[in-house]
Amino acid sequence: MKKVRSPLFYVGDKYKIISQIKEKIPQNINTFYDVFAGGGSASMGVNAYRHKMNDIDTNIVSLHRYLMEQVKDLDAFIEHMYDLIHYYKLTCSALNELPKNFLEVKKAYPKTYYAKLNKEGYLQLRNDYNSDQSNIDLLYLLLVYGFNHMTRFNRAGMFNLPVGNVDWNKNVESALRNYAEYANNNNVSVCNYDFEKFVLNQKIEANDFLYFDPPYLITFSEYNKMWDNNTENRLYNLLDILDEKGAKWGLSNVLTHKGKTNQILADWIENKNYNVYSIKSNYISKFDNTIKDDTKEVFITNS
Ligand SMILES: C[S@@+](CC[C@H](N)C(=O)[O-])C[C@H]1O[C@@H](n2cnc3c(N)ncnc32)[C@H](O)[C@@H]1O
Repeated sequence: MKKVRSPLFYVGDKYKIISQIKEKIPQNINTFYDVFAGGGSASMGVNAYRHKMNDIDTNIVSLHRYLMEQVKDLDAFIEHMYDLIHYYKLTCSALNELPKNFLEVKKAYPKTYYAKLNKEGYLQLRNDYNSDQSNIDLLYLLLVYGFNHMTRFNRAGMFNLPVGNVDWNKNVESALRNYAEYANNNNVSVCNYDFEKFVLNQKIEANDFLYFDPPYLITFSEYNKMWDNNTENRLYNLLDILDEKGAKWGLSNVLTHKGKTNQILADWIENKNYNVYSIKSNYISKFDNTIKDDTKEVFITNS
């Protein structure tokens, strides 16, 4: 199966393991609920009559809603991005546009040359976005040129990630094309609620499927800051309630990682009779790119 990556290049996205997940879920899904949608790679990889994405992160939801509108005319959107790239004097590998000093900078900074070349323009872009955060086009460009393609805001609500070592390249355009194909040909909506509120507000029917990909309690990423024992327990409680109601669901998680065990998950698994599958691990921390052999990634289903 073709691996389809979201143009949000989301930390923890599921595009590499979606084929393993698809083997374990029903084939004919009416509504696919992507309860912790993040970049949307899971939804993009699963066929269903309708997709309902949800995420608590308002900026991620704004980016999805913005991109879904824009990719209705993808070429016009890419042209608009090129205009912004030129305005901020950023490099653009997709257009083969590299500055005169490219080779010189590449030689001096073999691992960080894009970051060096784009730093000034990126900081101007970041200032402009922070002075008017309704410009989601600028937020998307920040995500493309920013550190690890992430979004991060300080307490005052200002976007504060440094420049990354990437630019607008062919991968960005091919991810946008995949996203356009998905968004333009499917019935997709995006909500912005806490997972429990989102799920309890839905009318779940027999052929629906709910996919849960929460932050993992024992790993690290920006969005893990919103996750603790309380949210973890709320989630398992909700999954049990859904099971009692006959709703079908699947849960991705990490059971062990770097010598740590998610004991709440381990106890829940032991007490219930759900199906627990091992997943060939996707997990590589962006902050420590050593792949640890002890990472046990699982997919759990109730049907
Ligand atoms: C592991 S990521 C999901 C990645 C996604 N499956 C993908 O392929 O890109 C977990 C997501 O849960 C979201 N999240 C954290 N707490 C949440 C909550 N209480 N309710 C809903 N979403 C939440 C985060 O914003 C983050 O996007």
